[in-house]
Amino acid sequence: MGVQWSRESWTNAESWYHMVTKDEVRDAMRGIQEWEKLQEESKASGSVKPNLPTTGPLLERIGGHDAVKRVVEAFCRKLYADERLVPFLQGRDIVYMRAKLSNFTTWLFGPSHLPYTGKHMRNAHLRLIKERGFTPEHFERGIAYFHEANLVNEALAKLRPFKGVVFTATSRDAEEEARWAAEERSKELQRRLKEQRELQERREREAKERQEQEQREQQEKQARQQWEKEWEQEAQQDERTKEQPPGKPQTGQLSPPPQQPQQQQHSVQPPPLPPLLAAAPGSPLVVGTASAGSRDQASPSGGYATPFTPMESPGKAPSSWVAD
Ligand code: HEM
Repeated sequence: MGVQWSRESWTNAESWYHMVTKDEVRDAMRGIQEWEKLQEESKASGSVKPNLPTTGPLLERIGGHDAVKRVVEAFCRKLYADERLVPFLQGRDIVYMRAKLSNFTTWLFGPSHLPYTGKHMRNAHLRLIKERGFTPEHFERGIAYFHEANLVNEALAKLRPFKGVVFTATSRDAEEEARWAAEERSKELQRRLKEQRELQERREREAKERQEQEQREQQEKQARQQWEKEWEQEAQQDERTKEQPPGKPQTGQLSPPPQQPQQQQHSVQPPPLPPLLAAAPGSPLVVGTASAGSRDQASPSGGYATPFTPMESPGKAPSSWVAD
């Protein structure tokens, strides 16, 4: 198309909406022919609303708001299916994109008095250009998807100038970049605040846990001290009970334990030493005096170091011991 769109003509609605060139007339004629063809096809398939007006505002001629929805939907689907374009859409909200594009397309094809309420087109794509390497070729691919939506040429002609708008640097770029920088700073600040809050919360949690632990330890200590005290009292009680004549109950906090029969210290008492050995000092078998059964004689295993066994009858020396 031979029409040259300057930034001024795009931003000044009056000049560019009422400007009609030979090319546009030719485009419109071609558009009408295409539209007639589309009408024939859609009548046959039943997919598109028939009987669209051939004159009047462009929005009505392309099929009104339904057509806008259809075009935007098809455009978005194709963008997201294009592996070369999808990286630019990562992290973007598809619902937001669709809504914005619908507003834009309605405005673009609608009556000229309607104001455009969206972002400036350069600003809307500036981050993609500056940070992700979005090029005019990428944008062209997007425009091509509008073509596939079978729009009349007049409509397509309105889209093309935006390539120039999106890729022409303006004084607003610096403003926009300053805004991002402020946004980034604010995000960074938020992130740090969040980190600090989390750190503070963690410290508080740890202090609380430590306090609870200390309380638990204190309680355990008190319980242990109480137990030791009771144990000591019980032991003293036992002592007193032993000292008192049997049968006389002891007065005190803790009732004395039931009287146990005096337990024998060793279930197997060593037999008395045979008289012969006891009388023969220096004999290798004599390990002590006649105090058999004392602790000094206990072997590490708890038995007695004397060669006696319970099987042997006490008082009777084995024949091998008998001195010649
Ligand atoms: C070719 C591939 C394209 C990609 C990958 C793309 C990507 C994007 C992205 C990511 C945004 C959102 C910016 C933000 O977060 O604010 C956006 C906004 C927008 N784009 Fe594109 N775009 C493409 C082509 C086009 C084309 C061909 C048009 C129409 C001529 C268009 C019109 C718009 C409009 C109207 C907005 C919303 C502006 C606003 O926020 O008000 N885009 N685009």
